[in-house]
Amino acid sequence: MNLFLHVGDRRPDGYHELQSLVAFTRAGDELSFAPGQEFKLDIQGPFADALTSDSDNLVLKAARALAEHAGVRDGAHIVLTKNLPVASGIGGGSADAAATLRGLAQLWNLGLPHDVLRRIGETLGSDIPVCVECKSAWMEGRGERVAVLNGIPAAAMVLVNPGVAVPTGRVFAALKERCGVGLPRPPKMQNAVELVAYLKTTANDLEAPAREIAPVIGDVLDALASRTGALLSRMSGSGATCFALFESDEFATAATRALNARNRGWWIMSSRIG
Ligand code: C5P
Repeated sequence: MNLFLHVGDRRPDGYHELQSLVAFTRAGDELSFAPGQEFKLDIQGPFADALTSDSDNLVLKAARALAEHAGVRDGAHIVLTKNLPVASGIGGGSADAAATLRGLAQLWNLGLPHDVLRRIGETLGSDIPVCVECKSAWMEGRGERVAVLNGIPAAAMVLVNPGVAVPTGRVFAALKERCGVGLPRPPKMQNAVELVAYLKTTANDLEAPAREIAPVIGDVLDALASRTGALLSRMSGSGATCFALFESDEFATAATRALNARNRGWWIMSSRIG
């Protein structure tokens, strides 16, 4: 999750300078790795149909990139259980690729440190290095400069995806107003209330252009903000998934139930960060 996302200038390579506070939820996709002569990827789970297991898949690209880097001739049998919506601004594909780098490095006993895996990941996508760490982090550059933070406060969270895909490149292209990248790293925060107070001084710069492309994002944010116990609601990444932080797990669970009862075909999940 991008708890906030500030965008700076577009660089000569086409990417934008970013600053983001990234946190990981306790829910995610699952991957398993077994020895094999060829690479084989099976995809299962609620969002399996949205993906193909051809060589375009980020998991297979990560597997091949690692094998090439390490001179490994083996393949592997990989099973991906896709629990998270795809192309939804919560780094699901990036986390899958990062997990593949870590999982195969272990399966093949490569003993590679994280910074090597991060560098391989960086060639495949901006968000992969932070997902190699899988810990709350301060992210800069185009996403490749990652500093793990000493824990940010735990907080209850509800995630909502309205089922529309907003292509990241299009959202960046539609960006007008932006906060820029001059923020210092966050202070040490003791609890969710302090975290929310800090986050209220920040924004997701991609929210406005994403809402222009997919106005339903505004409905999602309103629906989250109006639930009892909601402390802050915001979009993650380039959308369309939005989240709200809640005062307690009980409020988050109640909000999930109430939002689900409307049955608008939205994907709704309560989880935790920190
Ligand atoms: O690196 P990744 O493949 O995730 O980026 C997808 C697209 O998002 C890029 O092609 C670019 O248009 C945009 N992007 C950007 N600046 C970043 C990260 C992504 O402009 N820092």
